[in-house]
Amino acid sequence: MFDNFKMMNRPLTGPGASSRSYSNGQYSSVSELTREPIERRDMPKQISIFNHRGGASKTSAIFNLGWMLATKNKKVLLADCDPQCNLTAMVLSYTGSDNLKTIYDRDGVTSIYEGLRPAFEAIPKIIEPVVCLEVPGNTNLSLLPGHIALSEFDIPLGAAQNFTDSFATLKNLPGSLRYLLNETAEKNEIDIVIVDMSPSLNAINHNLLMTSDYFIISFFPDIFTSMANKSLAKILPLWNSLAKKLATLPNLIHSSYPYQYNNLKFLGAIFQNYGTRSWNMPTNDNKQWNANIKQWIDELSSSIYQILIPAMSDSGMSLSYEKYKNNNAVPPSPLLQITNFTNLIKLSRHLRTPVYQLTDKQLKQTGTDLAKTKTSLEKFSLLFERGAEKILGLVS
Ligand SMILES: Nc1ncnc2c1ncn2[C@@H]1O[C@H](COP(=O)(O)OP(=O)(O)OP(=O)(O)O)[C@@H](O)[C@H]1O
Ligand SMILES: [Mg+2]
Repeated sequence: MFDNFKMMNRPLTGPGASSRSYSNGQYSSVSELTREPIERRDMPKQISIFNHRGGASKTSAIFNLGWMLATKNKKVLLADCDPQCNLTAMVLSYTGSDNLKTIYDRDGVTSIYEGLRPAFEAIPKIIEPVVCLEVPGNTNLSLLPGHIALSEFDIPLGAAQNFTDSFATLKNLPGSLRYLLNETAEKNEIDIVIVDMSPSLNAINHNLLMTSDYFIISFFPDIFTSMANKSLAKILPLWNSLAKKLATLPNLIHSSYPYQYNNLKFLGAIFQNYGTRSWNMPTNDNKQWNANIKQWIDELSSSIYQILIPAMSDSGMSLSYEKYKNNNAVPPSPLLQITNFTNLIKLSRHLRTPVYQLTDKQLKQTGTDLAKTKTSLEKFSLLFERGAEKILGLVS
């Protein structure tokens, strides 16, 4: 099976190459929009976390993982590209619309939606970086706030991705999302952008995923797993081919924001096993629970191995086997397997703190309860630390 994995160095069409073309000033391809060529460092790496099935712990994983990556001397930007805005809510812990208004009413471009408006609403100005918010408690971590109105751009973007060849008026849309994320990341000297997405196969997700450098799939092991894998194994290669084609269309090359295919690679999977407890099993029977989880995880692993990996490999979206192996991340073995955070997830969200970072004072527990919880936190910490190390190794 792994013979199919392609040995591939990061190509000349990858992020490094793109940043070089930026610094050559080749990006100023449209006469009505002028900008100074700026000397830039390498572009930040963009990792999207995806699954078209909802509630697979994407947003929770992104917050905890992003925080861990940021403690490893990386500057990390959490980009909330899900119109549900759960990541924004998690980071800001806003409690009312006034609080949200304060975020959107700041000076400058304040959300993903505002950032994209020049392209999508034909406003005659260049897309400018979003003014990000530092995540409280972690100076290396920032948030690009989401906005519910982002979904308004889905239909025009879908049309643009399908018909740009014929309708040149749509040519600035397909490259605009990655352009905005790059500009924002570069302004903030970000190393890694983690993109949170809605659970959907819509045009925005297609665009975000296919213009990323890497992606991770977050899985929910249950009876639908194999079906979900079949669907991903069909859709992702199709999306990938379309993305490669878009990157060659003259209209998209000669646009204000040229569409770039960045040789997207699959980093691996995140499994979550906290949510399946409600499915067809007595909730208090731990033995039954463990057996059930094991069964679903086995099925998930085998369908990743048999269905997803061959599809990724055949369409050039796998890293080399050696790269996975050197980082202890050979699929279907997951990058991380998220266990049940129990009630700590609520506390974590309320305090805007990763679950493994909760302090004794915040836990408000004593004696054996506290000791037990601290053991769990150490396990969570190790889990995310190992996941972060694998990711850093894979993208290096
Ligand atoms: N490890 C965990 N243990 C317990 N509960 C969790 C865990 N991870 C996430 N949850 C809870 O499960 C729900 C869904 O999680 P989350 O929002 O992270 O999923 P998602 O994949 O981002 O969902 P969506 O597809 O809607 O964006 C939330 O209520 C969250 O608090
Ligand atoms: Mg989410």
